[in-house]
Amino acid sequence: MDKIVIKGGKKLKGVVAVSGSKNATLPVIAAAILGSSPSTIKNIPLVRDIRTMAKLIGLLGAKSEIKEHTLTIDPAGIKNYEAPYELVKTMRASIYVLGPLLTKYGYAKVSLPGGCAIGARPINLHLMGMKKMGAKIEIAHGFVKATAKKLKGARIVFDKVSVGATINVMLAAVLADGETRLDNVAKEPDVVGAVEFLKLMGAQITGEGTDVITIKGVKKLHGVKDFSVMPDRIEAATLISAAVMTKGAVKITHLIPAQLALFLEKIKEAGVKIKTDKNSVTVFPYKGKLKATDIITAPYPGFPTDVQAQWMALMTLAKGEAVIKEEIWENRFMHVMELTRMGSDIRVDGNMAIIKGVNKLSAANVMASDLRAGAALIIAALAADGVSEVHRIYHIERGYEGLDKKLKSIGANIYIEKDGN
Ligand code: EPZ
Repeated sequence: MDKIVIKGGKKLKGVVAVSGSKNATLPVIAAAILGSSPSTIKNIPLVRDIRTMAKLIGLLGAKSEIKEHTLTIDPAGIKNYEAPYELVKTMRASIYVLGPLLTKYGYAKVSLPGGCAIGARPINLHLMGMKKMGAKIEIAHGFVKATAKKLKGARIVFDKVSVGATINVMLAAVLADGETRLDNVAKEPDVVGAVEFLKLMGAQITGEGTDVITIKGVKKLHGVKDFSVMPDRIEAATLISAAVMTKGAVKITHLIPAQLALFLEKIKEAGVKIKTDKNSVTVFPYKGKLKATDIITAPYPGFPTDVQAQWMALMTLAKGEAVIKEEIWENRFMHVMELTRMGSDIRVDGNMAIIKGVNKLSAANVMASDLRAGAALIIAALAADGVSEVHRIYHIERGYEGLDKKLKSIGANIYIEKDGN
């Protein structure tokens, strides 16, 4: 298997641009199924999860083509309403096809996603929402089968904030009969981006970015010709963290700083000087050590769970003791053992990790357990003494476009070693 090799100790320097957001693209691809004509989606990141989603809608019968960073989707040929285990098991966001297929064609059969390294990842809230709109849901042989002649608008209250459930139920409600009100929805930019796309398709939605979204069902939606995906705020935070970890001087461009408000506050609290412009953040080198700074992950606009691992990497070299509380995923500390192998001092107590800053990290061979854990190991390796190897980089390639190349372009000593076998 391929691995990333990093010689630590280089201060990063220069300018690097953020790609389009993976998690904002995935729901838009699913939304394109709803159209009566083709859609064009620009600024997509060229990462594995996007290719997997394109492959999935291809299996359903849609035509899709990726050229440069533009994806075109023609849903006209969709005749199959089943998402198979082989694809769903590799990417849980496949569940996003449930809502669109059910509401447009009256039937969907999707393999149950199951858990993964970061937690159980249930879909009960997705299914509850569809049921409230009148769908008949059956679970058998590892599949969820949903049927409904015509979904009906409903009042749906989520008892937990879920990005996926908010999006999936919304994708179903846009073609339902009547009005749907969703309470306690996710406010993530990915949700707002999906609504923006749906509105361009002709959907009637209000309240995105607040706790309540209201949707008036329409008869038909059309394709969208000119939609551009927003920048990836998690990639942006990852690149900023890499710059900070090496005491670098880096300008990170093509991002929306407001989407990273709390993360940037924490960076400042840790003692790093940064300059924020309309679409960029510049990190300045600092002297001495970072200040140990606590975080608690929470739904947007809280501290993103998808930056928790990267924050932990930063705290391994801070002065004092930092506490990280993971409130979203029950098992998102798989990177702790690997960071420990690099000489960090971390204790886990339930959903809390206590990181005692050390003077230096030492290079080691480590293994990525998920996408963000992999990013954290790369960040740690950039500052470690010696040559580290990060294995299982397919996790990283699911969601970061050319992370190795981007880091190399700002001075990192990094390359991918391909497996000859
Ligand atoms: C999205 O996952 C992201 N994935 C995740 O990013 C991210 O960590 C997560 O949101 C939280 O921000 C995509 O956008 C593709 P949730 P999602 O439904 O939608 C519980 C990455 O690294 N829950 O908001 O699956 C669930 O167990 C990935 O890019 C239920 O209980 O997350 C969790 O505790 C990893 N029942 C919480 O809600 C449900 O039906 C939040 O999950 C659904 C979720």
